[in-house]
Amino acid sequence: SVPIVRTLGELRATVAGWKRDGAKVAVVPTMGALHEGHLSLARTALASADRVIVTLFVNPKQFNSAADLAAYPRTEIDDAEKLAPLGVHMLYAPNAEEIYPEGFATTVSVAGVSEGLCGAFRPGHFDGVATVVAKLFLQTGADVAFFGEKDFQQLLVVKRMARDLDIPIEIIGCPTVREADGLALSSRNVRLSPAERKIAPKLAEILFEASRQLEAGEPVADTLANAKKAIAAAGFERVEYLELRSERNLAPLGELNQPARLLVAAWLGHTRLIDNFTVRGP
Ligand code: PAJ
Repeated sequence: SVPIVRTLGELRATVAGWKRDGAKVAVVPTMGALHEGHLSLARTALASADRVIVTLFVNPKQFNSAADLAAYPRTEIDDAEKLAPLGVHMLYAPNAEEIYPEGFATTVSVAGVSEGLCGAFRPGHFDGVATVVAKLFLQTGADVAFFGEKDFQQLLVVKRMARDLDIPIEIIGCPTVREADGLALSSRNVRLSPAERKIAPKLAEILFEASRQLEAGEPVADTLANAKKAIAAAGFERVEYLELRSERNLAPLGELNQPARLLVAAWLGHTRLIDNFTVRGP
């Protein structure tokens, strides 16, 4: 079984011991409800570090609605059981007061990469993410951290934050894990009805097809307009955004003149799905 640590004191004492022994320490931040996407991060971490900490904290500051926070799946016992066979060395599931003690008043806010895309539709979301991830980096003192490309904007926000605050940690992005039909794994997929679950993989299919068309030199505006129509025709209620952005810094791109990402957010019933694909530049 994997040891579960709930206090900052015990976390620090354990990591200090590891570091005295010269171990390289990795952290994989999560909000639990672990699926194969999370586990792939943990496996990659185990392959490149001596000690791996998976963190589990459902961070209230990054949720936009109380309903979404309340509905977020909480499955800590199952999560611990999934991590044990991998050989993860610690599950850090802090008590809420270890993260946000009485009087907590600091926000980490990353300009630029946080703006637009999910940042435009989820006000305060990336402030919440940057704040909690900064704390998890500083609390764990890890040498390296693993994040999924599934949340591509989050990955760039976290990289910018660590660089700007001189937190000595290497951030590694890992490929999106998908179901056999292409749907990106997400803790929120359990909310899809059987009918919605059949529609959901069309998002990845349409997005992938559009990214191939862009690589083949099709015009950006037409390709995005057609893909938006196809997403609506597939049964999605609303496309929040579908945009081509710079892979390096998420700057908006009117044409494919550098390595890029095609990113989407769309609503299927009451569930918001996001996905993205790389678009190789010239
Ligand atoms: P959570 O949604 O639990 O995701 C934890 C990590 O797993 C993130 O790095 C995310 O990108 C990655 N992940 C999720 N689905 C994935 C998939 N299908 N393939 C690969 N990786 C995937 O993201 C968060 O939690 C939070 O915002 C957090 C960073 C923990 C801060 O609270």
